[in-house]
Amino acid sequence: MPRRGWLNDPNGLCLYKGERHIFFQSAPEYPAAGPKGWGHYTTTDFKNYIFRGMALAPDNPLDRDGVYSGSAIERGGTLYLFYTGNVKQAGDFDYINSGRLATVFSVTTDDGVHFSEKRIILTNADYPEYYSCHVRDPKVWEEDGRYFMVLGGRTRDSRGALLIYSSPDLESWSFYKDCIFVDFGYMLECPDIFTLGGKKVYSFCPQGVEAEGENFRNLFSSGYCVQKIGRQTYHEWDKGYDFYAPQTYADGNRRILVGWAGIADAALPYTYDKTLPDGWIHCLTTFRELKECGGRIYSFPIAEILSLAKGYERTAKSALKTFFAKVKPLPGTKITLGGCFVIEAAERNLKFYFISGGCGRAERTLSIQPRELFIFFDDTIAEIFINGGEEVFTARVFGGSGIEAEGVEDCEVSAVGEFSYEEAYCDR
Ligand code: FRU
Repeated sequence: MPRRGWLNDPNGLCLYKGERHIFFQSAPEYPAAGPKGWGHYTTTDFKNYIFRGMALAPDNPLDRDGVYSGSAIERGGTLYLFYTGNVKQAGDFDYINSGRLATVFSVTTDDGVHFSEKRIILTNADYPEYYSCHVRDPKVWEEDGRYFMVLGGRTRDSRGALLIYSSPDLESWSFYKDCIFVDFGYMLECPDIFTLGGKKVYSFCPQGVEAEGENFRNLFSSGYCVQKIGRQTYHEWDKGYDFYAPQTYADGNRRILVGWAGIADAALPYTYDKTLPDGWIHCLTTFRELKECGGRIYSFPIAEILSLAKGYERTAKSALKTFFAKVKPLPGTKITLGGCFVIEAAERNLKFYFISGGCGRAERTLSIQPRELFIFFDDTIAEIFINGGEEVFTARVFGGSGIEAEGVEDCEVSAVGEFSYEEAYCDR
């Protein structure tokens, strides 16, 4: 959760010199207007967190309307951050094919907290001429001694696309290739390409895809393809109402994913502003370790998060504010979280709905045989991992606390141990 103001995408996730850096899209003055920068948390152990203030502020003429999303990569002990500088020009523009500048910047650091001058890497003139002004969210990785950068884009004829640039040294970049989809909406955001279990994974967020059965139910979708990229192999990362713009990073041998427990664009049928009286809005999901299995990716909370459990007790009812629960559902099982969000199990599906506080979020069904549920509930968020992470369902829950389980075979609940949180600002 942000210390104050608005939060969206996770950015620049990395393990660098023993510390995990968790940057995020941040507008600390929200609801007052103001461009976004990169907020910054660090942790060494996922239990003790330090908030380090605004790492990258929108203080350059080419990022004055937002230091938008991007990523981090280490080379020779130096950490490079790449992001998109957003500029919305004043004038009579459509802001699709004109009126917007998207510049890729990089900054470097040798300690993770003091950053170099901003350096321009790519401007709109470097994107092929058939692209609109919407090209952003650089994710950089290394492969066979070369560096690659993937960006999400929208073509002038409104097709979603991935653009890839390559570099020998992270300094000079050239266009490598692109991939334009005929059937994936009008724009792709926040792409990520990585290797998992020896297989290539393509993760991205298509905008403008019509709902189709249980898929694409959110305003914007986020999902992945294993090995072969295309609509046929696409699978959503999370089936919940509140999930978007995930990013992954390598943490030793693990591939860890963090998502934004929210959804882009304010044109929503419901509001998330229930936490605003407390001065903040939106949060990130927990850290999820990814495992590839037959073309599908399982995600489950990392061991450090699981180890925060203080001890499981068999109980069908608990008033805890923050807890983990392990549930073995039966057909007819009904679990209520926070007094308002319900999960109902049948033999071949799960149903999710709100009794109150749904703010327009309608009932959803997920076709899966539910063998076990692992629930992480933290005051305003529920993350439900189904069958060891075969599917995940994330929902912000603005109700009360606690869990009530009816008709279960087994339900075990544990309090979540203490997190520590401090603030340490440095003169950047
Ligand atoms: C996704 C996104 C990104 C952009 C950022 C701006 O939620 O729209 O494409 O970089 O948010 O905050």
